[in-house]
Amino acid sequence: MATDTSTTSTNPLIIQGGMGIGVSNWVLANAVSASGQLGVVSGTAIDMVLVRRLQDGDAGGHVRAAIAEFPMREVGERIIRRYFLPNGRAAGTPYKMLPMHKQVVSIARQQLTMLASFVEVWLAKRGHNRPVGMNLLTKVQMPNLATLYGAMLAGVDVVLMGAGIPREIPGVLDAFAEHRAASIKLDVVGLPPGATETLTFDPREHFPNAEAPLSRPKFLAIVSAHSLATTLARKANGRVDGFIIEGPTAGGHNAPPRGELTLNDRGEPVYGERDLVDLDKIRELGLPFWIAGGVGSPDGLCAALAAGAAGVQVGTLFAYCDESGLAPEIKAHVLAAVRRDDVRILTDPRASPTGYPFKVVDVDGLDSQSDSRVRVCDLGYLRTPYHSPTGKLGYRCPAEPVDAYVAKGGDIADTIGRRCLCNGLAANIGQAQHRDGVVERPLVTSGDDLVSLGGFLGDRERYAAADVIDHLLSGQNIVN
Ligand SMILES: Cc1cc2nc3c(=O)[nH]c(=O)nc-3n(C[C@H](O)[C@H](O)[C@H](O)COP(=O)(O)O)c2cc1C
Repeated sequence: MATDTSTTSTNPLIIQGGMGIGVSNWVLANAVSASGQLGVVSGTAIDMVLVRRLQDGDAGGHVRAAIAEFPMREVGERIIRRYFLPNGRAAGTPYKMLPMHKQVVSIARQQLTMLASFVEVWLAKRGHNRPVGMNLLTKVQMPNLATLYGAMLAGVDVVLMGAGIPREIPGVLDAFAEHRAASIKLDVVGLPPGATETLTFDPREHFPNAEAPLSRPKFLAIVSAHSLATTLARKANGRVDGFIIEGPTAGGHNAPPRGELTLNDRGEPVYGERDLVDLDKIRELGLPFWIAGGVGSPDGLCAALAAGAAGVQVGTLFAYCDESGLAPEIKAHVLAAVRRDDVRILTDPRASPTGYPFKVVDVDGLDSQSDSRVRVCDLGYLRTPYHSPTGKLGYRCPAEPVDAYVAKGGDIADTIGRRCLCNGLAANIGQAQHRDGVVERPLVTSGDDLVSLGGFLGDRERYAAADVIDHLLSGQNIVN
């Protein structure tokens, strides 16, 4: 059992970082929160994750149990009718797809997103009364408002967002707590000067008579520069409750280095002095902060506390524990390579369609997505809107088929080296799409610390979230 430290501080010492798609699922977040630290579910592409879980038979009935709690009963019933397969899919059958997100989607599509987010948070909160967080990527803009409202319907306690500048999100949370409509600016490539586009979500379209306010979750911004923290603390349109200070060794996406991009001989971005966060400036803001990236160790936690942080946010160690959503065969394969000391992490500046560097696990025998993938764009979470010559908004992704991207006015140079993160990350959690006999391959991400995870792993082949928490806290004098 992990040590319960919840009585020692209102802020957790450990935040289990959000890991999309579906790696930090409700099972993991529930285990972490129940043990007194902060468990965080990923809300990224959670609508796809939900309908695929239903199509895979919803073992244990957890998803359907949570759907039954959703305040709009008919929405849940409709989704179960459409997607639930009691015996799962027949081998090789493709998953039924969802319409891709756009600036404006149907009410039914919004409700599916709300429901999926509700389900994830509801399950993460089941059976204990500790706080639970949700992580979203600011850059994946189009589903975010419905996802946030759905999470708030389930009582999410903390929202954590990075990968962009989430300046408008605190105000969204304030509005949604009172069931008011909220709008955020939609980033559109090539908009004429002075023009703006927005995304709007109005809770009243779904609950015209809602009265009881929802509780307003805390908002933690994930940043990699003190200047961004200062801007958010001063200029966000609502309360920012703290910061995650994430360095470039963290798993998932990283902020690009500041200044001109230079690459090392492995083609990875080189980070330097300018990328170090000035913690004096962070402390001056007077808000709690957690350090993330390469601090998943007892010493890492001690050092963070000594630097004035409230604790650490850890991803990589949790990604390979029993409760995480990573497919068991991928966990076992990577952990076996860790034990052999035969694992490498590449910070790939091209792989992610977002343009941010993305860490990719390189292990012999892991059949990962490569350049030979036939490009198909059918999930579309990373599509960005662009202003088309007709004046309408179009949507494109540099990992989609090259001809299509160029026909939409995209620069062919942007397509080079891009991976389909949507399909690769879905494959990581055992939700690979099948198309005409071809199966999508995984694209596993982890932080640089994966290579040294062997010290923690020892002779074990597997471990639980509680083992991670006990390990991280082992340098602390915990008074229960
Ligand atoms: C598999 C994986 C997926 C991740 N996905 C996300 C994500 O969707 N959003 C996010 O803000 N951070 C993401 N991260 C970063 C973690 O939340 C966390 O900040 C980071 O892993 C901490 O550094 P560490 O990897 O050295 O422990 C991801 C990390 C991993 C390992």
